[in-house]
This record gives sequence, structure tokens and C-alpha cells, in this order.
Amino acid sequence: MRSKRRQWTAALLWTVATSGSGCAGVQSALDPAGPQAARINDLWWLMLWTCAGVFAIVISALVAALRRGRAQPAEDAETERKMTKVVAAGVAVTTVILFAFMISDFVTGRALWSLASPDAIIIKVTGHQWWWDFEYQDPIPSHRVRTANEIHIPVGRPVKLEMTSSDVIHSFWVPNLHGKTDLLTGHQTVTWLQADRPGKYRGQCAEYCGHQHAHMAFVVIAEPVGQFNAWFDNERHPAITAANAGQQRGQQIFMSRTCMMCHQIRGTDAGGRSAPELTHLASRESIAAGTLANTRDNLKGWIVDSQRFKPGNKMPSHDLGDEDLNALLDYLESLK
Ligand code: CUA
Repeated sequence: MRSKRRQWTAALLWTVATSGSGCAGVQSALDPAGPQAARINDLWWLMLWTCAGVFAIVISALVAALRRGRAQPAEDAETERKMTKVVAAGVAVTTVILFAFMISDFVTGRALWSLASPDAIIIKVTGHQWWWDFEYQDPIPSHRVRTANEIHIPVGRPVKLEMTSSDVIHSFWVPNLHGKTDLLTGHQTVTWLQADRPGKYRGQCAEYCGHQHAHMAFVVIAEPVGQFNAWFDNERHPAITAANAGQQRGQQIFMSRTCMMCHQIRGTDAGGRSAPELTHLASRESIAAGTLANTRDNLKGWIVDSQRFKPGNKMPSHDLGDEDLNALLDYLESLK
């Protein structure tokens, strides 16, 4: 019993001791990588430490009272006067703390909008059950870049996200960069973020949206401007043409089956918009909204029986012969 208590105490102390440095990792609101997340992080620590202090004081007072036992009749009048003072002081301190919280909350809320800038990159985000559609906006329609479940952003430049949903309510959340913003049908919500250092920041849907809500992730890759421009230039190009007989056959299969009804591959006849865009699929890290690593085996399993990995998703299973399946995989893997 005693050793168990000691383990718990050690775990608690370790948590408190390491918490100041945040939980460094792929997805942590306590490891801010941008001004928005930093402000939310500051507010969180202010509230946590203040509440921890209040909790310690309340528990100490309780312990002191229990030890002291009942007041003697002779002390009653004196005790009463002291108690009144203590309670009045407690009410005053509580009021001050609550006002301080309200003001800092308000200041943080305003600061979260401070990135608004005409120089921002604008990305239209559409939430679907259960994947993310991203479109980099440009006044010239042919310069727009559409992609899915993965965005790249240049470090140090504000990004404006104009968001909407095609079905139910979703919530866009990249803990290292910002708090949550809901995506609604028929109404556009807007949020801003900026990354101050390069990195891969995992995001996920933060509003229960159905069976595969937990498999609705994405990644934000923040990189130096040069690297971002190179990525963006490549994205802007239509898909490369099938280079050999295998890839050509794969492309034919893609265009002759139902794939093209839902998926878009720019530069080809496939123009569907109800499923992830695939023009540069091979350059992405994962498939199925962060569910699987983007490997040939996973892609194969996904095409043949996606329900096995993500039950309820809208991708039908495809019964292709080995040769056709390999040709299709050759084609998809060429889409760099
Ligand atoms: Cu989309 Cu939860």
C-alpha cells in the first residue's frame, strides 16, 4: 500500500517537474510553435498555477480547521470576528482572481486575431466525413492548388483559413499552432495561424463527427520559404504523364473504373471533388486522413478493402486482378 502511494507521489512530482517544458511531441498544446498557440499556452499556465495555489490554500485551511477541532464557548465571539475577516478576505481575493482571469482571457482572445494581414496565404478548408480538403486560394483560378489531409506553410507568414463543412460539424485543431475552430455547413468560419519554427505539426478533428472521427487527422508542415516555394511550385503543376506501359495501364484503369467519379487528378479527365485530391499523392506522408503511412502495401490494402482500415468510409472496395492492381499502384505511386 505504502509503496503504491510512493509510486503515485513520484509520478505526480515528475509530472509537475517536467510540465514547465511542455510535452514536446508531434501534437501538444504545451509545445507551442506559433504566436497563437503561445498565447493560449501562457493563459493555460496562468490559470493552472493560480488554481493550484488556491487549491493548496483551501486544503491547508481545511486541514488546520480539522486539527483545531471545535471552538471553546469562551472563544466564540473572538472566533466569530476572525472568521468574518477571513471570509471577507477570501471573497475579495476570489473576485480579484476571477476578474484577472476574465481580463487575461479577453486579452488572449483579441491577440488571437492579431495576425490578420493582407499578406496572408489563404487556404480554403472543407471538412468531410472523414478527411480534409485544402485549396490554396489565388485570384487566378488556374493558380489554385488543391490537396488533401496535408498542408505546407512557410515559416513566419500568417495563414488565413476559411473553413466550411460538406456534411456535419467538424473542428480544425493543430494544438502546436492554435486552438480549435469549428467547421459548419453553409457558414464560413475563419481562423489564423502562423508557425515560428519549421516542423511537422499533427492536427485532427476535435468535434465528434461520426464513426471515423478519430481517423480524421492531417498534418501541417511548416518549412523555410525556399522549401515551401519549391513544394508549392510542384503542387501547382498538373500530374505527370504516365511514363511507361504499366503506368499508362494504371491510368486507364483509374479512368475507366469509378475512381475518377470521386477523385481529382489535375491534368487528366478525373475531376471528382467528393474524395481526396490525388494529383501529387505520392509526395504525401499518409493516406486515408492520417490513418495509414503512404506505402505501396497500405495503398493496395486500401484500394482492395478500405473498410477493413476505416469502417464506414465512403471508398468502395475494388476487386481488381493482380496485374491491374499492380498497374494502378504503379500509376498512383508515380504521382509525385
Ligand atoms: Cu470530423 Cu470529427
